[in-house]
Amino acid sequence: MSGILVINGPNLDILGKREEKIYGNVTIDEINVELKEIASAGGKEIEFYQSNHEGDIVEKITHSEAGGILINPAAYTHTSVAIRDALSARGLPAIEIHLSNIYAREEFRHKSLIAPVVTGQVSGLGKRGYSLALEALMELVDEK
Ligand code: DQA
Repeated sequence: MSGILVINGPNLDILGKREEKIYGNVTIDEINVELKEIASAGGKEIEFYQSNHEGDIVEKITHSEAGGILINPAAYTHTSVAIRDALSARGLPAIEIHLSNIYAREEFRHKSLIAPVVTGQVSGLGKRGYSLALEALMELVDEK
């Protein structure tokens, strides 16, 4: 129960080929390689999951045996009561991450349904946000 689950939501499978001015040209696999190194250095197991389907993300959260969750819910950030409820039901240390600064973009992105049920949020730091969030999450899991 001390491992980390990293979840990336819809359209993050095409990161690197997707609106590069906003999201950069790094791929999700490249980000995951860095995260794996950070987790290994901290002696933590880490699992990576990407899906474009809301219900699959819900089931991944509710059935996970991880001790902490790092999640970029992508577009579901702004729409998914189901993903929010799953995170809330688990009550695990969890960090919501966004590559872009969602508060500096279109108004519909300013509202996160996820933010109230996670431990904290990182938004706008690009790929480095994932590393920072993982470092913090590993500490949160150990403190629990
Ligand atoms: C995103 C921001 C969301 O608004 C958007 O729908 C995404 C990516 C980000 O990482 O900046 O798909 O979560």
